[in-house]
Amino acid sequence: MKNLILIGFMGAGKSAIGRMCAAKLGYTFRDSDAVIEQQAGCAIAQLFASQGEAAFRQCEREVIAELAGTPGLVISTGGGVVLDPANVEALRASGLIVWLTATPEVILKRVGDARTRPLLASAPDPRARIAEMLAERAPKYESAAHCVVSTTDRPLTEITAEVVALYHTFRESEG
Ligand code: S3P
Repeated sequence: MKNLILIGFMGAGKSAIGRMCAAKLGYTFRDSDAVIEQQAGCAIAQLFASQGEAAFRQCEREVIAELAGTPGLVISTGGGVVLDPANVEALRASGLIVWLTATPEVILKRVGDARTRPLLASAPDPRARIAEMLAERAPKYESAAHCVVSTTDRPLTEITAEVVALYHTFRESEG
């Protein structure tokens, strides 16, 4: 299907860069968290609060399966998408997966207002929580992704150009 899929931790820039890549490629942009919010009729934080993380993960699995099966998309995913192997399998079959990275310091700065991010909002020490979650998830991002792009201290335009170039190379290699 050859979609372009962005994975990575909260605050890695998946939505901003995804939107810019979609504009460059002339593809449709889809943010899986936004689709979940539309379908649930409430914000992610409310979904976590009222139905719990397991219900959110169930919605996420359904939305990922739907998006992965739709061609011509740039898909930005939630930071926990790699926790479920079914998501990884569906996304690998769907196209190129790029892992966007950022240092814990940069992530902390970008997610300064953690109220919309329930997994950080409840942490007494968000910096420690970020480092802990990153350590747990990094191997999963690494094995799910085809390639990795740093977003630390780089302009969005430069990151976008690198991701788009990787996508073109991928498409050529796929024939
Ligand atoms: C989550 C990240 C969030 C959202 C939900 C869970 C996670 O997405 O899907 O709060 O488990 O890391 P962003 O990465 O877009 O913040």
